[in-house]
Amino acid sequence: MRPISATINLEALRHNLRVVQATAPHSRIMAVVKANGYGHGVLNVARGLKAADGFAVLNLEEAISLREAGFKQTLLLLEGAFSPDELELVSQHEITLVVHNVRQLDMLEKAALSQPVSVFAKLNTGMNRLGFSPSEYKAAVERLSTCFSVGDIALMTHFATADESLGIDDPYRIFSEASVGMRYPVSLANSAAILRYPHTHADWVRPGIMLYGASPIAGTPASTFQLRPAMSLRSEVIAVQSLKQGDSVGYGCKFTAVRESRIAVVACGYADGYPRHAPNGTPIQVAGKATHTVGRVSMDMLFADITDIPQADIGSPVELWGEQVPVDSVAEAAGTVGYELLCALAPRVLVKVIN
Ligand SMILES: Cc1ncc(COP(=O)(O)O)c(C=O)c1O
Repeated sequence: MRPISATINLEALRHNLRVVQATAPHSRIMAVVKANGYGHGVLNVARGLKAADGFAVLNLEEAISLREAGFKQTLLLLEGAFSPDELELVSQHEITLVVHNVRQLDMLEKAALSQPVSVFAKLNTGMNRLGFSPSEYKAAVERLSTCFSVGDIALMTHFATADESLGIDDPYRIFSEASVGMRYPVSLANSAAILRYPHTHADWVRPGIMLYGASPIAGTPASTFQLRPAMSLRSEVIAVQSLKQGDSVGYGCKFTAVRESRIAVVACGYADGYPRHAPNGTPIQVAGKATHTVGRVSMDMLFADITDIPQADIGSPVELWGEQVPVDSVAEAAGTVGYELLCALAPRVLVKVIN
C-alpha cells in the first residue's frame, strides 16, 4: 500500500474549539464543517467538535448525515434550500436554513411543512455573493416573521474583508443600520472577525478555518493564535536519486542541481491533493528535518532535497504539512491559502483519526 496518509487529530480540534470559546466567551459557536469538514471528514470533525452549539454545512445530505449520526445541535444550511422537495426534508430533520433571496422566501411561503423551520436571514453587506440588499432586508425579515413555515429567526451577514486591512467597519455599519429595531439573534463573525473584531461576536460566531488549526489571516501564523493543526499529511521516501551538478529532476526539468545532490522521491502528488504549483523551495520535512521541494510536482510523486540530511533514505518519514510544516506555509509558497489545500485532500488518501 502507498505510504501516504492524513492523520486527523481530534484533540487538536477540541483544543481549537476551546480557543474559540475563550475568544468569544459570550457567543454560541456554529462550527463551519462544509466541504467535508474542510477536507477532514465531516463526521470526524463533528466528533471532535461535539461541544459546539451548531454545525454549518452546504448540502442537505451533509446535514442529514450529521442528524443520522446523532448530532442534536443546530444544523445550518449555508446556501439554504434549492427546491420545495428539500424543504420538507429540512423540516423533518429540524435543519435551519439560511434564506438569502426572494425566491427562497416565496418557496417558504408556498410550502405546507410538517413543522416550521428555523431560518437565518442573510444580509449582503458588500461581499455581493449571497444575501438580501440593505434596502430589501426589512421587508424580507417581516415576510419571514409572518410566514407559517418559519419558526425561529436569526440575522446574519458574512464579511468580505475581515482578514484584510480594509477590515469590517463598512459592512458592520451597513448591518447595524439595516437591522435596526430587529430583536433577533445575530451571527456575523468568521474566524478572522472572531480573532480581530470582538465587537462582532454577537449571539453566534461561525468559525471555520481556525478550528482546523490554520490561519485565517495571510502572513500571520496560526501558532500566533495558539491554534494547533488538526490534519497532518504524511508519506515516505520511496526512492533516492543522486544527481551530478547540472542534472535535472522531474517533468520539464524545472530543477537543475547546482551541486552534487541527493533527491528524495516522495509518494505524494497532485492526485493526492498536493498543489501542483508548489515551486522549488516549498517547505517539507524529511526524516524529522526541515528541507524543501525541488522540481515539478507530478500526479503521484514529488521531490525533496535531502543533500544535507544524510540519514534520509528510502522509507524515511515525510511530513507534507501538519505539526512541523504549517499548511499555510506550503499554501503561501504555492500562491494559495491553507483552506484550499485542506479542502483538496483527495479521496484516495487514507485517513487515520486519532483521539
Ligand atoms: C457564511 C460563512 N460563514 C463562516 C465561514 C467560515 O469562514 P472561516 O473559515 O474563514 O472562518 C464561511 C466560510 O467560507 C462562510 O461561508
